[in-house]
Amino acid sequence: MGSEEKATKRLQKEILGPLLDWYAKHARPLPWRKTRDPYAIWISEIMLQQTQVATVMPYWDRWMSSFPDIASLAAASEASVLKHWEGLGYYRRARSIIKVAAILNELDHQGRFPEDYDTIISLPGIGPYTAGAICSIALDKPTPILDGNVIRVLCRQNNLQANAGERQVVKLLWQIARNWVELADAMRPRPQRVCSHLNQAIMELGAMVCLPGKAARCEICPIAKACLANRCQSVADLPRLPKRPKTVKLGRVALILEHCGSVLLVEPSADGHNRGLWEFFTLPLAEARDSSAAVEEAVSQILRSRQATLASPAEAWKPIDHTITHHRIRLFSYRIRLKKALSAQPGEQWVATDRLVELAMPSAHQQLRQRLVGQRNKQKKRSRRPDRAS
Ligand code: ADE
Repeated sequence: MGSEEKATKRLQKEILGPLLDWYAKHARPLPWRKTRDPYAIWISEIMLQQTQVATVMPYWDRWMSSFPDIASLAAASEASVLKHWEGLGYYRRARSIIKVAAILNELDHQGRFPEDYDTIISLPGIGPYTAGAICSIALDKPTPILDGNVIRVLCRQNNLQANAGERQVVKLLWQIARNWVELADAMRPRPQRVCSHLNQAIMELGAMVCLPGKAARCEICPIAKACLANRCQSVADLPRLPKRPKTVKLGRVALILEHCGSVLLVEPSADGHNRGLWEFFTLPLAEARDSSAAVEEAVSQILRSRQATLASPAEAWKPIDHTITHHRIRLFSYRIRLKKALSAQPGEQWVATDRLVELAMPSAHQQLRQRLVGQRNKQKKRSRRPDRAS
């Protein structure tokens, strides 16, 4: 036996075999693990790109009930698709799904999801990770995947000390991932769906066992004996990653402008990423994120410029803190009842409060909507209660 052949057998025996056995016993019963439909796997992978498994599960279930295939998705309105995405954030993902559905619904694809890697990767929003995941998980092809969890497993198993953000290191990691899945494919006898299971096993190990830093659970790891970082006691230090961009604090003010049971909504379009969503009238704060004087000044300035007259004093709500990538945003908000409706400018509309729930809103604004609807329901109940005569 040559040395390359020996290395192959060793990898299969000490890493791939134990990983596959472990996955067979310990894989979580996630809903998308019950299907081999590349369309369904594609949707799950896009949802999972920036969102945690527990959050994705109910979204994926609802999505698959409403849009079980490409034809139903292509027939749906953009508003309905975005509404199904509401709360997942990073809406660019939903928009690329809409584009793909339109492409695949055309004649040459006949509404079928393609099965070859080059066609899959040519579709909008699908890069090497997603294409590799669809081809391996759904179609059992020996295509590699590399995401944060896989990077952690591979860096540790190889005790790779180099920075995993560098181009050459990423290239090397892709090569290792490819080597693993190709050698799994070459196992004889070939275990059933071995490429699908191996790639999911690596991800699952990264998500459940090979956890970041000191949280790593090496004592239950099926490949601990073959892990070079474990041997060198460098598990907690790996992978070495590029520094994250510094967090930037921003302030915004949302005005819930109400008149006669309706509120003024805006379709934010400036940077495009929230297009198709609706939010309450919002203005950025230059700085002074926490200065209530600055917030109030910005509010009165905008009300003056729109010639708004208040029916009662503005009601300040508790600020909402939320995060978008490296931005920490504090959203101040005021409920404002107007004497007279402002005329809606382009990109604005008045919407009956009872119908707000039909529109997709960014998550901080969903919270405001919930508060508003809650307050209104309480008011309605109170006004229906008969006066108790004394
Ligand atoms: N993260 C990314 N893809 C995943 C998958 N298919 N299952 C679980 N977690 C994932």
